[in-house]
Amino acid sequence: MRVAMIGTGYVGLVSGACFADFGHHVTCVDKDAQKIAMLERGEIPIFEPGLDDIVARNRAAGRLDFAVDLTAAVREADAVFIAVGTPSRRGDGHADLSYVYAAAREIAEAAQGYTVVVTKSTVPVGTGDEVERVIREARPEADISVVSNPEFLREGAAIEDFKRPDRIVVGTDDPRAREVMTQLYRPLSLNSLPLLFTSRRTSELIKYAGNAFLAVKITFINEIADLCEQVGANVQEVARGIGLDNRIGSKFLHAGPGYGGSCFPKDTLALTRTAQEAGTPLRIVETVVAVNDVRKLAMAKKVVSALGGEVRGKTAAVLGLTFKPNTDDMRESPALSIIHALLDKGMKIRAFDPEGMEEAKKLLPAAVTYTGGAYEAAEGADCLVIITEWDAFRALDFERLRKLMTQPVLVDLRNIYRPDEMTALGFAYESVGRGTTGADGAAIHGA
Ligand SMILES: NC(=O)c1ccc[n+]([C@@H]2O[C@H](COP(=O)([O-])OP(=O)(O)OC[C@H]3O[C@@H](n4cnc5c(N)ncnc54)[C@H](O)[C@@H]3O)[C@@H](O)[C@H]2O)c1
Repeated sequence: MRVAMIGTGYVGLVSGACFADFGHHVTCVDKDAQKIAMLERGEIPIFEPGLDDIVARNRAAGRLDFAVDLTAAVREADAVFIAVGTPSRRGDGHADLSYVYAAAREIAEAAQGYTVVVTKSTVPVGTGDEVERVIREARPEADISVVSNPEFLREGAAIEDFKRPDRIVVGTDDPRAREVMTQLYRPLSLNSLPLLFTSRRTSELIKYAGNAFLAVKITFINEIADLCEQVGANVQEVARGIGLDNRIGSKFLHAGPGYGGSCFPKDTLALTRTAQEAGTPLRIVETVVAVNDVRKLAMAKKVVSALGGEVRGKTAAVLGLTFKPNTDDMRESPALSIIHALLDKGMKIRAFDPEGMEEAKKLLPAAVTYTGGAYEAAEGADCLVIITEWDAFRALDFERLRKLMTQPVLVDLRNIYRPDEMTALGFAYESVGRGTTGADGAAIHGA
């Protein structure tokens, strides 16, 4: 089949390359001419493990190409995917749908023959109706179906997620569109893939409800972590103890600095707005949004208290800037809020991230010093702060670090290390939700 992918970002490029790998012919389109030029030169504009290989292979096989203008690709396509960004709208937190509707208008002009227009971007309930209205208004005679097919891939494991998904949700009541979508995903059905057909509105809501549920889970364990610190309990053991219950499950129960990234923050916020407008506020999700916002600042306070409360002129070596490992995505990363707060308190920041520093430079003040690795970052630092759990930070040489640092203090916001080990190595150690009790059984706020 022929596919046009409109928007060649994290989702569009991964989905396009994977559809090509299934044997379809795919054109990935993007308005950003620089991005397309890079791809045509064989360069990958984002960091996503394995993506370079799959793009190169499918280009060489003649199944994947790139374009700035969508006309030719849409004209020939059986399915046109809209995979453009849907960021938070400034001011009110609604999803900004201007890119989606702009793409729909362009698709309307170019479509020929029966075309399934598939919204892969995360969009609020009812957006499919509006996309259909926009296209029909521009081209009343166009033979199109508008389908919802939200994407569930995770950055850092995107190819694996796309090729081995837990489920594929397709929102349409139209049998012709259903057939096209089944053909597109057929290569996956060999692995008895759970293809879930729903109405368009239900499909749109499944994506938001899924992300909101995961954000609730993360925020729940983060609050339990705070309680653990106060009462002398260990959040990792609590998480294991509840996660072994199949009804709960062990995923998304890692206490940390709060969720970030390109999806959870904007999607939870947009869902609360949709619900408020529908007259059925989602109070749990509203609370999660508020709790997560203050959490990032609480993490900066943790650094300050680990250094005894007075930090002006002191230096923090920050390891990990991206919102999670194996991506260069800095959108809404907790590192942004934490570093801003530490700079406001007069601290100096020496940072290192394996992939995120180019993006970080665009978002953080010029005062931040970027370094070539964990040990260089640690030179002269008063504390080491681990914000993102890249593999490169999992087996640090603390003897070496101690010699490089002004004082041996580690704030481990991902609970990578063990408090007893760190103490034995002579480090003052702070982590998340691992409270301890003294000889008298009273809680000691600490590691
Ligand atoms: N990133 C993720 O992990 C993820 C996962 C699931 C769903 N989503 C959703 O997928 C959508 C895309 O996310 P992303 O992270 O890939 O965004 P992105 O910002 O990386 O990419 C979007 C691309 O669309 C391009 N674009 C915008 N308007 C265009 C137009 N009219 N024609 C052609 N190109 C256009 C932009 O130049 C940009 O390259 C969002 O709705 C997001 O919520 C993202």
